[in-house]
This record gives sequence, C-alpha cells and structure tokens, in this order.
Amino acid sequence: MSEEKVKLSGPDLTQGVELTAIPDGTMLLGHAQGEPVLLARRGDEVFAIGAICTHYGAPLEQGLLVGDTIRCPWHHACFSLRTGEALRAPARDPVSRWRVEAVRDAARQFTSVDAPVGAVFVREKMECWEPQPQALSAEQPKSVVIVGGGAAGNAAAEVLRHEGYSGRLTMLSADDTLPCDRPNLSKGYLAGAASDESNLLRPREFYKKNDIDLRLGARVVAIDAASWHVQLANGSRHDYDALLLATGAEPVRLDIPGADLPHVHYLRTLADSRALVAKAPAVKHAVVIGASFIGLEVAASLRARNIGVHVVGIETILMEKILGPEVGGFIRRLHEKHGVAFHLGTTAISIGEGNVKLKNGESLEADLVVVGIGVRPAMSLAEQAGLAIDRGVTVNEYLETSIPRIFAAGDIVRWPDRLTGERIRVEHFVVAERQGQTAARNILGRREIFDAVPFFWTEQYDLGIAYVGHAEGWDKAGIDGQLEERNCAITYRRDGRKLAVAMIHRDIDGLRAEVEFERANPAAPTSIK
Ligand SMILES: Cc1cc2nc3c(=O)[nH]c(=O)nc-3n(C[C@H](O)[C@H](O)[C@H](O)COP(=O)(O)OP(=O)(O)OC[C@H]3O[C@@H](n4cnc5c(N)ncnc54)[C@H](O)[C@@H]3O)c2cc1C
Ligand code: FES
Repeated sequence: MSEEKVKLSGPDLTQGVELTAIPDGTMLLGHAQGEPVLLARRGDEVFAIGAICTHYGAPLEQGLLVGDTIRCPWHHACFSLRTGEALRAPARDPVSRWRVEAVRDAARQFTSVDAPVGAVFVREKMECWEPQPQALSAEQPKSVVIVGGGAAGNAAAEVLRHEGYSGRLTMLSADDTLPCDRPNLSKGYLAGAASDESNLLRPREFYKKNDIDLRLGARVVAIDAASWHVQLANGSRHDYDALLLATGAEPVRLDIPGADLPHVHYLRTLADSRALVAKAPAVKHAVVIGASFIGLEVAASLRARNIGVHVVGIETILMEKILGPEVGGFIRRLHEKHGVAFHLGTTAISIGEGNVKLKNGESLEADLVVVGIGVRPAMSLAEQAGLAIDRGVTVNEYLETSIPRIFAAGDIVRWPDRLTGERIRVEHFVVAERQGQTAARNILGRREIFDAVPFFWTEQYDLGIAYVGHAEGWDKAGIDGQLEERNCAITYRRDGRKLAVAMIHRDIDGLRAEVEFERANPAAPTSIK
C-alpha cells in the first residue's frame, strides 16, 4: 500500500497515549511515522501492530481481540499481537509490529489535568521474524510431495517452510497457472476490479526463494502407496516420504445438447476466468445456468460489465437450503434491482449458437453461457490409491487418511467436525487453507487437531454475507436485526442446538460466533473405518 493512499486517523502514537485511553481488552487506532498503527491492551501489556490486514486490507480495529491475538473482521484471519505473524489463513503475511515503551508518571506531557500516572509511546518499527531452515529430525520426512496447487496445497507448502522444514518440497499442480485467489475469480477479477497479478496468491519468485519445487501443468495420474511415489501424466515420477493430497473439486458438467459449444464456460481456474474476461467485451446477453454462490457472483460481476444476465435455477427460492427463504428472497430482489432476470424451478434442456432453451418452454438469448451447477471432489487419485472414501476422502482429526504417510486437505476431505462429531465436507477457501496449514504441521509430527470452525463468505454487488459454522439440515433460522437494512445475523439451529450463523454486515458478530463455537464442548472424534 503506498503511503499517499493511507488515511491516518486517531492520535500520533509516537507522542504518547495515556494508559486510561486503552482500558484492558480494548484497542486504539492511531498512527506512527505515517502508518496506521493499532494499540491493543491485554492486562498490563500494550502491543502496537500495523492496523491493516495483510489479506484484503480490512481495518483491524474493527476486529476482535482474543487472548494475545487479533482477528480480522472480514475473513477471520488471525494475527499475533506479540510477533505480528499471520497465525491463521487467509492472511499469509505478517502485520508490522512496533516497540512500545511504557512511561510511568508521564502525566505532565498531557493536557488533561486528571491525567493518571502512566502512558505508552510507540517507538520504532521492529524487524519481522524470518523463518530459518532447521536440520531435519530423524522422524521428519526427507521429502514432501503436495498434489494440488490450490488453497490447501499452497498453504501447506508455505507453512512447511515457515516452520523451518528443510527437506525436499515439491508441489504438483494440474493448473497451468500459479496458485490463485480462487474466490476472486467470480468476484473482483471477473468484474474487472482486480488485476491479473493481484489474483495470484504469491508471485513466481516466492516459490523459488522458498525452495518450493512448483510444477505447473503437472497432472498426477497414480499414487503408489506401497513404494511411496506418485506418477505424472508425462511419465515422470516423484518419491515421497509424506504426501499431501489436495486435489480440490471439479465443476459438475452439464449433459445436454449444445453443452460443448465454444461459448459455454465453467469457472474453476484462473484460466477459466481469464477466458470469460477476454470474451466479456463482445458479450451482450449472458445466461448463467445454476443459481449457486458462484452462479450468483458471476451474474453480479457480469452486470458490473453491463452485460444482460438471465439466471436459470432448478430451485424455486435462492439459497433456501443454506440460508433460508427470507435471505433467498432478499438476494433475489437485490439481483433484480441490478437488472438480473431469474428463471427458477426449471432447467436448461439445450444450448444453441445464440440461445438457451428451458424446460418450461422459454428460449433465452445468449452469446455467453456460464455453467455453475455445483462441484464434485476430485477423487480419482484417492480412489486409485485405495484410500478410505465416503463422499470425499475420509480423514481423522489430524487430517491423516487411511494410508500411512498420506494426508489430505481442502475440498476433497470429509473430516470430523469438532462441534458435532459428524464428518463434514465443505467447499470453503479459508477451511481449505487452514487444513493445509494443519496438515503441514502434522507432516512435521506436531499432532495438531484440525478444529477450526468453518467459515465462508460471498460478495454480490455491495452485499457481503459471512457464514460461520456448519448447519446441514437445520430446522430453525432466527433473524436478529433487519434484513432489508442489511444489518442482521441469522442463527441456524437443529434440535435447538446452534450450528451456524450468517452475518450481513455485522462482522464483529461473526467473530464472536466463531469464538463461541470454538469454546463449545467438542464432540468426541471418530476413527476412520
Ligand atoms: C469461482 C469460485 C469462487 C469461490 N468463492 C468462494 C468464496 O467466496 N468463499 C469461499 O469460502 N470459497 C469460495 N470458493 C471455494 C474455494 O475456492 C475452494 O473451497 C478452495 O479453493 C478449495 O481449495 P483446495 O485446495 O481444496 O482446491 P483447489 O483450490 O481447487 O485446488 C486444487 C488443486 O489441485 C490440482 N489438481 C487436481 N487434480 C490434480 C491431479 N491429478 N494432479 C495434480 N494436481 C491436481 C488443481 O490443478 C488445483 O491446483 C470459490 C471457488 C470458485 C471456483
Ligand atoms: S481482509 Fe483480513 S482476512 Fe481478509
């Protein structure tokens, strides 16, 4: 972020702040040497860190202090107040930290007559902690192979190096592009608000600098778990001592006449999104088949480009199963206000050169068709390797599969949810990254339980919805606040038990719900059968 763009507010913290201005458990936004800085107090300790989240730039003063960490209000990254480190995805880089000097009897420096004894001054910025490679212990794998260059795979590679792992580290990705910010492919990137470069999780040099042997266009076709190697489509093989399987999910393909025409697109990879962006200027009428989160985000992004959009969905109420009928109706009205036309309770039966025919008899003009009818976990390798499977790769609470030395993370796994003890599988970016992080530490022998509370978000136009927890088959949804005013929290319960909360522009409630779920009594984990 360039300094000219940073708007500073609050006091100049280098000039000192009375301690009474920061009661225990609170924060104070100010600035130091031209940068926004946040003071946070925990008991007798006062910390000073950079005030802007390193993920998408959220104002951390609107976040939540939990122990000696701060959580980001937008996508729930977590930073250490002591070191500035990004402890949890989706942030990858630390925030700056600053030396704080406490001065007793500093009252004379302040204008307030009642100024109490004690003030703190923010001094110089401190060095960021840099990971140092460490000698391998006898128990640690000499080589790690990660299959998948997405959210989980990338997070795992980063954490392995961050933890000082010095063995051979190979990441094999079937994608032709560097690991990318997949959620943005249907949002800012498609709408034209984000650049190509900003959509990469890391630049190419990062992998080189960290000695991560990243192979792109490298499709693995077989895992030999008996002799610990993987086989690539190009015939090459890679040996491993530990393997992380993070192959993500693949879009469900439409099976109707015309589905393979060149103007019919799917959206999973950066290449897919680039293809849509390249076509967009010549498109007048788009049909989105599937009213999923991705379908609706695509609709909003295409509207931002002034393209006429029709959305076709089998459901009669948008998002009803996940968010409930009230929220579904609200989302529909939002899209309609932006000019989207819906064709719900029906399906597409054929696609022609310039139109899409629907089961209800309608014919929609279309020079672009985007299909978003869901995804399936990419399971072929797991099946071939003989891993235990149950609508996903079955893993235990350490993200170990049924075969020793093979871990799995991300959209492909079904893991024991800490709150209910039930095995769940989700398709959430932050969950995939956090699983990659935990799997990496467990590859190094940490035995860390994966117990993060599921979190996802969606953005459509200027509406943001964040969702914390996991409620499959809820029976009651209670709205606290005003949906139409975009200020509410919706709590989903089953048999009276709170399972998830969706927030509309109530970030702090989302963070509090996350902490509440974390502190709820965990259910006993189950073993892999
Ligand atoms: C357009 C879009 C928008 C989204 N928006 C959101 C959102 O707003 N919020 C949210 O929480 N989630 C969102 N998601 C979901 C989120 O991106 C996924 O949950 C997340 O990327 C899953 O991470 P993953 O690592 O499991 O899989 P992926 O990120 O899909 O990565 C899988 C990797 O495995 C590779 N691979 C697959 N098979 C092989 C093989 N045989 N050999 C080698 N490599 C292989 C692929 O090439 C890819 O690199 C969105 C997804 C999409 C597509
Ligand atoms: S902006 Fe902070 S986690 Fe995304």
